Amino acid sequence: MSNIAEININGNTYSLPIIEGSEKETAIDISKLRGQSGAITIDPGFKNTGSTKSAITFLDGERGILRYRGYPIEQLANKSSFLEVAYLLITGELPSAEELTEFQKKVSRHTLVHEDFKKILDGFPSTSHPMGVLSSLVTALTAFYPHSTDPARSWAQVNLSIVRIIAKMPTFAAWAYKNKVGQPIMYPRNDLDYCSNFLYMMFGLPSTEYHADPVIADAIDKLLILHADHEQNCSASTVRIVGSSQASLYASLSAGINALWGPLHGGANQAVIEMLEGIRADGGNVQKWMNKAKDKNDPFRLMGFGHRVYKNFDPRAKIIKRAADDVLGALGVVDPVLDIAKGLEEVALQDDYFIERKLYPNVDFYSGIIYRALGIPTEMFTVMFALGRLPGWIAQWKEMRENKEPIGRPRQVYIGATEREYVSIDKR
Ligand code: SDX
Repeated sequence: MSNIAEININGNTYSLPIIEGSEKETAIDISKLRGQSGAITIDPGFKNTGSTKSAITFLDGERGILRYRGYPIEQLANKSSFLEVAYLLITGELPSAEELTEFQKKVSRHTLVHEDFKKILDGFPSTSHPMGVLSSLVTALTAFYPHSTDPARSWAQVNLSIVRIIAKMPTFAAWAYKNKVGQPIMYPRNDLDYCSNFLYMMFGLPSTEYHADPVIADAIDKLLILHADHEQNCSASTVRIVGSSQASLYASLSAGINALWGPLHGGANQAVIEMLEGIRADGGNVQKWMNKAKDKNDPFRLMGFGHRVYKNFDPRAKIIKRAADDVLGALGVVDPVLDIAKGLEEVALQDDYFIERKLYPNVDFYSGIIYRALGIPTEMFTVMFALGRLPGWIAQWKEMRENKEPIGRPRQVYIGATEREYVSIDKR
């Protein structure tokens, strides 16, 4: 196969190299196109445009494959733990038993945050969405660790910043929840595992004994694994482009949290539950809402369906759907919204509109149902997504910095007014 692509512009032919990835994906390297031809390419939403070469996550949308550093998501979800997966994503290799124990100890030692964070938290009214609180608290880390913002930061400093944010994110997330419900915050406990500690800070109260249900802690650990990375999605690309200006890890992660918040991205898990509850309140007529989703004049979309890359089942959705049945069964929870979700899925998978557009349930379609069964309030669903995606964002930021990638600065095609003379206001 020729490894050159030829492009003809106004009768001139330009040759561009074709590169091939380790999974035989091919890409045309257009980095010299403008210099040779004066032309650029344009691709709104970057649907056909690669931004980087990455060794972190591989996904095949047609075959429904997802692997972190080569390991299939199904194996990691069933056999690994979230902190082990975080170590894998960030370092590139699975840890030895000693390395994992050392990593867990380091994380445990950094879960506490400076008391002055309570003053920041107190500034947020209970109406604040936890995602806005979370991104603000993460940005505020730059104030408490000013060396973390130094562009000439050493890798030792970066690695310490990485441990700090992995350790403190559950504390911030739980405190954002406590701020919403008006309860006193709970301090982290280093004798608990990562997810049990999170649940303790979320649902514990100073006046009562709280012990996290292992079924719930295990389910959350699995959900965090399933959300840990997803190559160049909207929020990961945001983290990379913000970091490409040599902004700090914390500033870049805060930007990623805000990108994830959108209902077309990580905010979809909250939107799915709100949609299902709306359908239920409307009488549960699944076909009526399917018709609305297909009606071009109706802004309603079937949240939790469709994906930019997966044109087959999102492998995470399959695992989460099974886990939903297991967790609700184990907890003895009956949720009529789960039946509506299954009814919607059944109708959609047989509907030409969805089949033609290859719209399948994505990671967000069932995750909200599990979170709800676990007692996580709806407005915290996207915070759970951010908690899971954190190691992926870190790995993407670190890879971009290690590879010394240039500052991200796309071009454009100008379609505005051509040159014109200024007219004084008395003559307009
Ligand atoms: C995540 O990128 C990632 O990896 C993201 C993520 C991750 O792990 O980081 O996987 C997490 O964000 C999952 C997606 C969560 N979002 C939703 O569930 C929101 C509902 N889904 C859609 O808005 C949509 O499917 C997107 C945003 C996910 C993808 O949009 P695209 O790739 O830009 O596709 P599109 O909007 O151009 O849709 C193509 C066609 C259109 O119809 P036509 O114009 O061709 O007639 O499919 C239709 C769309 O109208 N369509 C839908 C639909 N999704 C797409 N129609 C009804 N309901 C939907 N959900």
